[in-house]
Amino acid sequence: MTKSEALLKENSKYVPGGVASINRLTDPCICFAKAKGAYMWDLDGNKYIDYHAGFAPHILGFADKSQDRAVAKALDDGMALFGSGATADEGELAKLFLKGLPYADKVQFTNTGSEATAQAIRIARAETGRDHIILMQGGYNGQHNMVCANLMTDKAGLGGKQVKGDEYPLVPITAGIPKAEQKFIHAIPFNDLKAVRKVMKKYKIAALITEPVLQNIGIVKPQPGYLEGLRKLADQNGFLLIFDEVKTGFRAGIGGYQTIAKVAPDLSAFGKAFANGYPIAAIAGKQKYMDLAISDNPKKRVLIAGTYNCHPVAVAAAIACLTKLRDTKIGAFRHLEKLAKRLEKGQLELFAKYDIPVSIVRVGSAHCVYFCKTAPTNWWEVLSNHDFEFDKDYRRRLIDKGIYNFPVPCKQGSISLSHTEKDIDRTLKAIDQVLKAMTK
Ligand SMILES: Cc1ncc(COP(=O)(O)O)c(C=O)c1O
Repeated sequence: MTKSEALLKENSKYVPGGVASINRLTDPCICFAKAKGAYMWDLDGNKYIDYHAGFAPHILGFADKSQDRAVAKALDDGMALFGSGATADEGELAKLFLKGLPYADKVQFTNTGSEATAQAIRIARAETGRDHIILMQGGYNGQHNMVCANLMTDKAGLGGKQVKGDEYPLVPITAGIPKAEQKFIHAIPFNDLKAVRKVMKKYKIAALITEPVLQNIGIVKPQPGYLEGLRKLADQNGFLLIFDEVKTGFRAGIGGYQTIAKVAPDLSAFGKAFANGYPIAAIAGKQKYMDLAISDNPKKRVLIAGTYNCHPVAVAAAIACLTKLRDTKIGAFRHLEKLAKRLEKGQLELFAKYDIPVSIVRVGSAHCVYFCKTAPTNWWEVLSNHDFEFDKDYRRRLIDKGIYNFPVPCKQGSISLSHTEKDIDRTLKAIDQVLKAMTK
């Protein structure tokens, strides 16, 4: 990996840390030169079967031909960022997007998931006239001030003890959030309705925002009744329920996890998988909230605007991706489920063979191996039970064998439509070799 190291060193002279998004700085920090389908090649020419999927957007795989052709066609046809009026393509995308979402009436597009969650919270504040936000310890909802706190917080940061039925101490994951803004953020344990009840009695809550499945600390699923319980509490208390489906949306299935769970949020944020790696995100929800963007009442009107919103390249890419995901002849979700099951079954057999206690958690093609006996239900359980050191070593050794999972413990793996049974079997073979070496 000498070329990766040299490039990082060179880029660090001009870019802080040498990388464009600081969470891409890992150990090892491999720099890639190209990607196609399920594979990536690093600067030194090493080939990997990829499960990182660029932090999960690539659901079709890299450089999908039909998608790239659609993008080229849009440009050939003279589509540009006109920045005035509407385009037929963005209307088509909106229709296609909403077709899969039984709980949303309208949609608006942004460039990033962070913009989508920020706008959703703004709408909730405008609607309710309240300021406080509840979010999850172990959830990630973007890099802006309203939510940038309490992700993979260590035990010391959390006060050294597990909190039940209440909020955790606030631990921002960035410097620079004014104290005045921090007081509006309340981080609670996932799967803990008592905590919601307690916090909503103490503060005027505008919104509770949560990933329906926590997918930035591996895969932590909602327990039966939890999402339904959130819905009930939102109705009782008058706050808006926001599902952050930036990771789950269109990867769990068309329409996201809300469609699987059959729980209707007031608003949702989407991103990643619905455009297979092109930069576009969305806020979708009930008409009365979405229409605050055009409210007659200036005190309630929310500014949803952006120079690059619905850039024609991203719009063409998203239409092509959604069209392919919906194509029953292709059967994308059938394929993803089949491969993910094959990987899970093979892994379970191998971990049993080497007598390593694991818990594999999976939602469709999104998967995570926890090195502990029972699947965690919140971040504290991940912190307390998962073997982070083993996981780090395991990922690193797999990379050496040409299997790329992001080299940070308990980060989600993602399978794409381009992966094949052969890729899964090659992965399992590498896992077998790695576990053999690790248990020697
Ligand atoms: C659940 C979730 N919400 C929001 C975001 C922020 O999206 P973006 O990085 O596009 O701003 C992410 C990014 O990983 C995410 O996983």
